[in-house]
Amino acid sequence: MSTFTIDSGTSRATPSPVPGKRMTVPAIRERKQGGATEQPIVMLTAYTMRMAQLLDPHCDMLLVGDSLGQVIYGLPSTIPVTVEMMCAHGAAVVRGSWHALVAVDMPFGSYEASPQAAFASAARILKETGCAAVKLEGGEAMAETIAFLTARGIPVIGHVGLTPQAVNVLGGYGVRGRGEAEADKILADARAVADAGAFTLVVEGVMEDLATRAAKEVAVPVIGIGASSQCDGQVLVTEDMLGLFERTPRFVKRYDDLATRIGAAAASYADEVRTRAFPSADETYKPKG
Ligand code: KIV
Repeated sequence: MSTFTIDSGTSRATPSPVPGKRMTVPAIRERKQGGATEQPIVMLTAYTMRMAQLLDPHCDMLLVGDSLGQVIYGLPSTIPVTVEMMCAHGAAVVRGSWHALVAVDMPFGSYEASPQAAFASAARILKETGCAAVKLEGGEAMAETIAFLTARGIPVIGHVGLTPQAVNVLGGYGVRGRGEAEADKILADARAVADAGAFTLVVEGVMEDLATRAAKEVAVPVIGIGASSQCDGQVLVTEDMLGLFERTPRFVKRYDDLATRIGAAAASYADEVRTRAFPSADETYKPKG
């Protein structure tokens, strides 16, 4: 748990001196010792500087997820997300944080063709954002790529189970691992990703017992989303967790109802503009003395 507080009275995202040390890849990896994680890893998504500032003191990792396609850009899936989008938002999140490790998703099409293609995309993301790691989707099929990147100085987070970039193959976003064969495949994927050198991995949208088994059997920390409380950490899409959307997956817990509160604030503003109650004397400039 971090103890420093953010100076939110200034828009400067990089105060000097920096009020703390950023989490490192080895520090995250070492949270899990001998198959157990005493202090679960806290991860949330962030896409903007200000959200990063607000989340940073509470999180071990901030994920610039390609879910920004839907959340920020209103796209129908993560498929159209580009490296350019990930770089712009990744750099903003790095500027808005100094405690959490920032990881950036590799978007669809930027890494699957070959380890070399993945290296070029990942190196660009690291250079342009200042993030410490990338995340990519896929299990056994991505093991060679994960080993290639890791051996060349690029820390990788794996992502198995429900992999949203594969929506066209999967046919939707339903829970994975209901049948024995699919569960075995997801476990094999998790092991392959960890064996290839991923320092942690996300398991998304799977049956609870499968996620619990993955966390027990895989040496590196397993971060759950729609998975199990027995995972080594949890991640949620921040806008889902804050209640900004009416429709969210079943696994999302809403910790606030910001959609209602923003609507109410906008309605008050609109009312005061229309009745000329805003701006009042408090919000207008008058001659001095
Ligand atoms: O893109 C994303 O936000 C993610 C998380 C849901 C894990 O991959």
